[in-house]
Amino acid sequence: MAKTKILFILFLVLLVESLGNALEKNLEEEIFSEFEDFDDINEDEEEVFELQKNGRGNKVLVNVDSFGAVGDGTSDDTKAFVDAWNQACSKRRSVFLVPSGRTYLVNATRFNGPCANRLIIQVDGTIMAPSDPEDWDPKSPKAWLVFNNLTGTTFQGHGVIDGSGSKWWAASCKKNKTNPCKAAPRALTIDSSSGIRVKGLTFQNSQQMHFVISRSDSVRVNGIMISSPGDSPNTDGIHISESTNVVLQDCKIGTGDDCISIVNASSNIRMKTIHCGPGHGISIGSLGKDDSVGIVTRVVLDTAFLKGTTNGLRIKTWQGGSGYVRTVRFQNVRMEDVSNPIIIDQFYCDSQKPCHNQTSAVEISEVMYRNVSGTSKSQKAMKFACSDTVPCSHITLDNVNLEGRDGTAEVYCNSATGIIAGYVHPEAECLNSSDKKIEQKIEEYNVHTEL
Ligand SMILES: *[C@@H]1O[C@H](CO)[C@@H](O)[C@H](O)[C@H]1NC(C)=O
Ligand SMILES: *[C@@H]1O[C@H](CO)[C@@H](O)[C@H](O)[C@H]1NC(C)=O
Ligand SMILES: *[C@@H]1O[C@H](CO)[C@@H](O)[C@H](O)[C@H]1NC(C)=O
Ligand SMILES: *[C@@H]1O[C@H](CO)[C@@H](O)[C@H](O)[C@H]1NC(C)=O
Ligand SMILES: *[C@@H]1O[C@H](CO)[C@@H](O)[C@H](O)[C@H]1NC(C)=O
Ligand SMILES: *[C@@H]1O[C@H](CO)[C@@H](O)[C@H](O)[C@H]1NC(C)=O
Ligand SMILES: *[C@@H]1O[C@H](CO)[C@@H](O)[C@H](O)[C@H]1NC(C)=O
Repeated sequence: MAKTKILFILFLVLLVESLGNALEKNLEEEIFSEFEDFDDINEDEEEVFELQKNGRGNKVLVNVDSFGAVGDGTSDDTKAFVDAWNQACSKRRSVFLVPSGRTYLVNATRFNGPCANRLIIQVDGTIMAPSDPEDWDPKSPKAWLVFNNLTGTTFQGHGVIDGSGSKWWAASCKKNKTNPCKAAPRALTIDSSSGIRVKGLTFQNSQQMHFVISRSDSVRVNGIMISSPGDSPNTDGIHISESTNVVLQDCKIGTGDDCISIVNASSNIRMKTIHCGPGHGISIGSLGKDDSVGIVTRVVLDTAFLKGTTNGLRIKTWQGGSGYVRTVRFQNVRMEDVSNPIIIDQFYCDSQKPCHNQTSAVEISEVMYRNVSGTSKSQKAMKFACSDTVPCSHITLDNVNLEGRDGTAEVYCNSATGIIAGYVHPEAECLNSSDKKIEQKIEEYNVHTEL
């Protein structure tokens, strides 16, 4: 009798372990694992540079200067940009050119499509926003440069998009609680578009978010740079909302909010070789604010370096929301002096009023951290703060090594379960569901057999 019991327990242990392995394999297959189509594609860019040098080629240059743009940084070049846009958009093989060596002051503008196919927007000079918030139409406070309804369009060049944000920052309620909380412009928005490429541009000092991709499909971003002071409020680097099939590669982002934030109705988001810092890290969320539905699935970050950020790899949701975050993988990440290197926060509350606990929450599952290492500024190197009623599940830690400043570090779990594989430091026993399952199964078996 005793022998069969031991054998049965052994069987259970093996079963649970193989279930764990199978689960991990499925997860891995499900979290799309390959980055094979990540190669840079630069022919278009070269083509345009050739064209500029010798004035030939089958492209039609539409230079903003030909439409009366002055480019002295003080004259209003908005009308010239709009006129040039209307021409470039309507003709095939156009290159909308913002030439190098000058600074063009451009007011809030919508560049609407649809345009003729294969439009290239070549920004080699600097596009600058008027610095005074008074110059903004209060009816559309979030818009500066909005590109809408485009297909097959490429944004490229070595130019700069400068939001001149310092007055907006000073007026932010995050800077001074006596200020009212108001929306501020996003520097560049690509909205309701598909088949978009963005290459090489620099974004700086945006009023709020630097680069927003919304309601779009198939967007590939390569080699962009984003920079704003670490204390500039709400200046997210790249913000992805309601978009699918987005690739971000070789991006260097230093800012005052999330380097990258991915919010509702976004899926198939792949990020490779990302540098982040200063900033608030790489975030999914926030989701579920004001009891809303938030859904984000299939997100992969592969190869990232984060330095001095307040968070590292973060998923943040508000109490009271619904929906889910599912199938996320963070891998090959190195962090240095990051305050919350790995964090899932289902109690996120970025409001002046305190948030109370609610039973509803955005469900978080199938999140994998693989080959993540570095140093944590806070004691809690890993934090899985999950809702009591909607727990986090299928969290995988595979080769994670985070060290505290003074050599100590710990893991916090509330209502989170998962699998631990490889070397994980600090120990994350509080996540280890396999052990609990075995204990529970053995207990159940004992209860049944002893009776
Ligand atoms: C977007 O373009 C399509 C044609 O491609 C047009 O039918 C539609 O009205 C445009 N939408 C907006 C919001 O401009
Ligand atoms: C921008 O537009 C606003 C409103 O139309 C206007 O008051 C302001 O002077 C413009 N700013 C610049 C720099 O042209
Ligand atoms: C916040 O704004 C108020 C009113 O403008 C001002 O008196 C106060 O000095 C400001 N505080 C800080 C910390 O800047
Ligand atoms: C989130 O996306 C879903 C699906 O597109 C939509 O139904 C819902 O209204 C969105 N929620 C918010 C807060 O926008
Ligand atoms: C682990 O991640 C680091 C940082 O990105 C990378 O340099 C290293 O090659 C990765 N190790 C493996 C085994 O992939
Ligand atoms: C909400 O729930 C969490 C987890 O049980 C708990 O740690 C936290 O103190 C609660 N917050 C409030 C405001 O009740
Ligand atoms: C987690 O559980 C697995 C399987 O039961 C076990 O091999 C491993 O040692 C546990 N890890 C920790 C850190 O407790």
